[in-house]
Amino acid sequence: MTGRLPPAKNTGKESPAPVSRYLVKSFGCQMNVYDSERMGDLLAEAGHVPAAGTDDADIVVLNTCHIRERATEKLFSDIGRLRQPRGAGDLRAPRAGGKRPVIVVAGCVAQAEGEEIAARAPDVDVIVGPLAYHRLPALIDAAKSGRAVDIDMPAVPKFAALPARRHQGASAFLTIQEGCDKFCTFCVVPYTRGAETSRPLADLVAEAEALVAAGAVEITLIGQNVNAWAHGGTGFADLLHRIAAVPGLKRLRYTTSHPRDMTDDLLAAHRDLAELMPYLHLPVQSGSPRLLKAMNRAHSRDSYLATLAKARAFRPDIALSGDFIVGFPGETDAEFADTLSLVREVGYAQAFSFKYSPRPGTPAATMPDQVPEAVKDERLAMLQAAITEGALAFNRASVGRTCEILLERPGRKPGQLIGKTPWLQSAIVNVEGARIGDLIPVTITAAGPNSVEAIPLARTRAAA
Ligand code: SAH
Ligand code: SF4
Ligand code: F3S
Repeated sequence: MTGRLPPAKNTGKESPAPVSRYLVKSFGCQMNVYDSERMGDLLAEAGHVPAAGTDDADIVVLNTCHIRERATEKLFSDIGRLRQPRGAGDLRAPRAGGKRPVIVVAGCVAQAEGEEIAARAPDVDVIVGPLAYHRLPALIDAAKSGRAVDIDMPAVPKFAALPARRHQGASAFLTIQEGCDKFCTFCVVPYTRGAETSRPLADLVAEAEALVAAGAVEITLIGQNVNAWAHGGTGFADLLHRIAAVPGLKRLRYTTSHPRDMTDDLLAAHRDLAELMPYLHLPVQSGSPRLLKAMNRAHSRDSYLATLAKARAFRPDIALSGDFIVGFPGETDAEFADTLSLVREVGYAQAFSFKYSPRPGTPAATMPDQVPEAVKDERLAMLQAAITEGALAFNRASVGRTCEILLERPGRKPGQLIGKTPWLQSAIVNVEGARIGDLIPVTITAAGPNSVEAIPLARTRAAA
């Protein structure tokens, strides 16, 4: 769908492109966040500078997510606000002078509903899909003479066309794999992100080294099916070994894994690599054997439980996490009870749960016996109560543990900082002389359902 790019205007003279201030807003998953950062890199490379907020931005990129309903309606209301003449404030507030920013709609809604956006929102200047955004600066240029649309799924990977990363910060995402071939019956990702493709090993090692050189001590490898990564005969477990060996890298994580691709050598890496954090996010979606089939999940309840048991055998302290959908078409009370029993059986440290949201074009959207909203609400509340109970038990069991935390942000009270434990718990700590980005040793002293409290190890020793 690249054919709609208007030809570049020939003005007869070259004038330097004006500097614009840009803002990229992320609405989606970690890959969407990575893409936002990379679009920022592209705009910076083109000579633009980050805006302080929507208010002073000349270019606003809305990087959308299509995974659940209502994203599109929300998008149209955001666009509506951006096009008003404005005073001060956020999306509602147009800039002095009444000039509206260049509006770019990127991401998975752009991919899935590019045509609808073009028809409904004439003020959108650029529509660009998640596989084509390396062309963003050219599209913005082209939009000067009419809307530019690129929702192509190009054969040439975008990654090779992206500039060097400008990431700053102790923790960084690194997209290693994109797309999905699994076609779960509820999910839009195979349609918005295309087929599974893996980036070459050498490129990933180079990007990881560059991130560490820029100050990252933690890297999270990301992909829709991160553990399906394979390139030139190398598999995901080998990649983990290779990235873990990057000098200066202290922590390695990955997400999101598919149960079908959890190989033994990957699970063994949790035993063998000190840098690989003891945390496994492994979405299951349902505890009901029948629903797992209807979802086309390619794993059973039993095979999923067997994988988790193996993970625990390799790394006994591993924290487990998952994703759940309640109210998939045809889900009975007994089948939902299977999900609750699975949650209790596993003892997740954390989990994400969603009400089934019918997505146009996916097989489940037209399945019979759609579950009423009120039933979904009730089931979601019950599931979340079970998940919270499990998280509290996990956090309580970690009281007394000594570990390092990576400081991420200030806490609510003065002197407080919040960091992440190896098990991805948020740990609140009072510490002097430490900064965001530091890894500090602590002892966990108290636990709630969403966080733990910790004290710096030096103080524990002093008290002893
Ligand atoms: N590739 C990952 C999941 C990516 S989408 C995997 O297979 O596990 C992230 C999560 O969104 C999914 O795990 C699922 O729980 C949820 N999700 C996806 N489609 C959904 C839908 N139509 N309705 C509700 N939740 C959905
Ligand atoms: Fe969606 Fe299933 Fe692919 Fe995950 S594995 S991205 S849930 S289709
Ligand atoms: Fe959303 Fe696209 Fe990610 S639909 S979850 S932004 S892959």
